[in-house]
Amino acid sequence: MKDFAGRVAFITGGANGIGLGLARALLAEGCKVAIADIRQDSIDEALKTLDNHNVIGVKLDVASREEFAKAADEVEEKLGPVTLLFNNAGINLFQTIDESSYDDWDWVLGVNLNGVINGVQTFVPRMKERGLGGHVVNTASMAAFLCGPAPGIYNTAKFAVRGLSESLRYSLAPQGIGVSLLCPGLVKSYIHASDSVRPASLSKDGKPMEEEFRKQLVEVHKLGMEPDEVASKVLDGIRANRFYIFSHPEFKDELRELFDEILEEFVEGEEIPPHRAEVEKGRRAKYKEARMAARGE
Ligand code: NAI
Repeated sequence: MKDFAGRVAFITGGANGIGLGLARALLAEGCKVAIADIRQDSIDEALKTLDNHNVIGVKLDVASREEFAKAADEVEEKLGPVTLLFNNAGINLFQTIDESSYDDWDWVLGVNLNGVINGVQTFVPRMKERGLGGHVVNTASMAAFLCGPAPGIYNTAKFAVRGLSESLRYSLAPQGIGVSLLCPGLVKSYIHASDSVRPASLSKDGKPMEEEFRKQLVEVHKLGMEPDEVASKVLDGIRANRFYIFSHPEFKDELRELFDEILEEFVEGEEIPPHRAEVEKGRRAKYKEARMAARGE
């Protein structure tokens, strides 16, 4: 997609951080924009700052299928058919898996994975049916590649969003709908305040973040990339129909190191039976073809 003007964009988590940066960038391109967010006060503040008649706000918890469908109807009634979908809302829980409860899993996967699934299930059928093309951008993270002991559930969700997005890209390419995966590193944002949007129903077994650690997070996020810079890279990524949108160049060497280490895990010199090699040869050719087709090659 080269021309954004006149298109309608739906951005989850659009009231702060990366989502708000995307809203600004898309409005500047002449899009109509809906910012969907769980924080009504942030929506109100964002609408004031954006001060543009082409943007509306809608309160939405992305973990809820019903709310998602309602928000989609409301936005499309007001702005027209959505052809740019940004599944961007996310929260973080900085703790290890062995210290996590079912409530922790349900909250983090509910927002960071189910939120993306709900966006896809709600909007993709509409986008396909209308035949207007479009683009879906799912916000993952470098944590879709790089794991630590913490944040384990966040890693789990972001790895899953990566798989979901790549698979979706191949199935939507024939419809003229692109799919990209945004993988940011550190961004100036509000994500350190995630605890404040944790629903009471999933807080029973949750441990509140220690004050000292919260202060460290606030400081470290101040060092992050400006959301406007991330957004500008996202729009470039859509224009080029790139799958991976790597906004932070500081990760390239580390990914190379990691991929090399992964390849070293294969045992050298093992025999490959010809019948199996033949099956994989066919599959590999088709996979390569799908990647090229999705890039328009
Ligand atoms: P942010 O906290 O500034 O913005 C996220 C927005 O999502 C907030 O406005 C929040 O109210 C909203 N939100 C939270 N839960 C929601 C829910 N259940 N339903 C609807 N909206 C909800 O954080 P940021 O950093 O802009 O996060 C955006 C995405 O970027 C997230 O998916 C995050 O995982 C990802 N990311 C952020 C990085 C960073 O350093 N800030 C690094 C890598 C990825």
